[in-house]
Amino acid sequence: TTVEWEAESYDMGGHDTYMHKEIHEQADAVDRALRGRIDDRFSTVHLGGLNLDARDARAVRRVKILGCGTSYHAGQIGAQMIEELARIPADAEPASEFRYRNPVVDPDTLYIAVSQSGETYDVLAAVQELKRKGARVLGLVNVVGSAIARETDGGIYVHAGPEVCVVSTKCFTNMVVSFGLLALHLGRTRDLSVADGKRIIAGLRKLPEQIAEILANEAEIEKLAGEYADAKSMMFIGRVRGYPVAREASLKLKEVSYIHAEAYPASELKHGPLALIEPAMPTVAIVPDDDLLEKNRAALEEIKARSGRILAVAHQVQEKADHTIVVPKNEDELDPILMGIPLQLLAYYTAKAMGRDIDKPRNLAKSVTVE
Ligand code: AGP
Repeated sequence: TTVEWEAESYDMGGHDTYMHKEIHEQADAVDRALRGRIDDRFSTVHLGGLNLDARDARAVRRVKILGCGTSYHAGQIGAQMIEELARIPADAEPASEFRYRNPVVDPDTLYIAVSQSGETYDVLAAVQELKRKGARVLGLVNVVGSAIARETDGGIYVHAGPEVCVVSTKCFTNMVVSFGLLALHLGRTRDLSVADGKRIIAGLRKLPEQIAEILANEAEIEKLAGEYADAKSMMFIGRVRGYPVAREASLKLKEVSYIHAEAYPASELKHGPLALIEPAMPTVAIVPDDDLLEKNRAALEEIKARSGRILAVAHQVQEKADHTIVVPKNEDELDPILMGIPLQLLAYYTAKAMGRDIDKPRNLAKSVTVE
């Protein structure tokens, strides 16, 4: 099924920017990504365009995800979901790096090209090189009928609807949701139990409401943006599921506000970046209530001991943090979908406070169709 993009979806609908509008469209966008795909009878999902039957799915030995920028970050979360739910080794790599390093192309690997526009040159070139070598390549794409959608063997449309702002928000969220669907599908052709399938489906169904809940706290995030807009530089940290969330949030802030930001795995702080921590370098920490909660709390203590300011995104108020944005808890595997959303708003309000050209940041284009 395809979703028609109506002219009215380009209407600003009272929002001051497309970025703001698109952030607020996420509950509906996720609902659209799920619609018609859930199969309660077998606790799995149907992905019509995948062109991968159960036998093919079971023969996959590895998954390699390729994309650029935000889409690459969505791929990093996707790779973790596929490893966790389907127990297939999976990783993501920037498409440009992949195509320039003469990679070993393996017939038992499932390659997935992820792109909003479906036209990014580096991703398309990687797809063409893979096809030339006989690999099986799927697309996880937003724009229907785009070059990458056409050149792949099958795939998943993420159904985010048109994204006009140069900076990707709703499409990122829908990409991660689509990876969740794919991970569930691959998992249920292998060893993921019916009970776990049910658990993930229930989690997916909760997402639109939980997104609406996060967005309803917008005023609080606007206030926080005022507190951090004076930062010269910001550190974003996360661990395992939280690390790609930190990377994406750091990219978002850089793109729209031009504030320098770094993203590190929380565990890497002590291997160098702790030297940067001082009051002028606040840290945004992703702190989910999962098996790594205590480890993440220890990182907050390390930062506090060096007089660092901390803004935590967590499922409960963090004592060591100066501020906590509390987000609703979902299943551990799906938490990354929600934890980045308040940080899209933080980037937006920071850029707004600084008078930036939010929908068209300097030096950037929506699709990079050249090398
Ligand atoms: C997103 O905020 C960026 N502007 C950029 O990183 C983008 O995600 C990247 O260029 C890939 O684009 P695509 O998804 O259309 O392939």
